[in-house]
Amino acid sequence: MIIEGLVTTCDPTGRCHAAAMGPIVEEGSADQFVLRPFRDTRTAAYLANHPAGVFHIVDDALVIATVVTGGELPADELAPATAVRGWVWQDACEAWEFVVEREEPGDELRASLFCRVVHAQRLRPFRGFNRARHALLELAIAVTRLHLLPSEEVQSCLAVAERLTAKTGGPREREALELLRSTIHQWNSRPDNKP
Ligand SMILES: Cc1cc2nc3c(=O)[nH]c(=O)nc-3n(C[C@H](O)[C@H](O)[C@H](O)COP(=O)(O)O)c2cc1C
Repeated sequence: MIIEGLVTTCDPTGRCHAAAMGPIVEEGSADQFVLRPFRDTRTAAYLANHPAGVFHIVDDALVIATVVTGGELPADELAPATAVRGWVWQDACEAWEFVVEREEPGDELRASLFCRVVHAQRLRPFRGFNRARHALLELAIAVTRLHLLPSEEVQSCLAVAERLTAKTGGPREREALELLRSTIHQWNSRPDNKP
């Protein structure tokens, strides 16, 4: 199955870079996973340079919305990883420190990186399912694909997230919605998007 979460890598200066990523994880196993970064992402470039990082299991839509809209993880919530040169976001539920063991055949667009977990930490309990968070996760994916998706599809995703955030969200979900909505509005108002 694919688990959506957050990958931190080190940029060439050693600073933390965070990206939302969904590796393929065998159910029940936290020993290994396959990360499939698009070849043009910074995550792919940073892992080619330093083949280690941290995959985080998260239950927070705001952190996903923050990184997909270009924000950074708060510096005071980052700690150096234990077993690799990398960064752990302290408000995740779990942090899996990994090394890239080998590159498997990917495709033209995506690499396929077999990752071995060398150290895992439970940081805090998972706080449960929530309809707003799931809808915001879908909207966050749409935001990373604004250049590919028809605008009606993005608008319908936004409408679902608005409805479910109003119904089931709290302050963090409302803030996540605002970040994603304003990125969509900025995209829609780019002069080259006008007919
Ligand atoms: C929930 C979620 C899962 C994602 N999974 C992946 C993935 O598996 N591989 C990928 O390349 N991009 C994925 N993306 C898109 C990246 O987060 C996005 O393209 C990002 O800009 C790439 O990161 P980087 O260039 O900052 O490294 C995902 C986005 C979201 C919101």
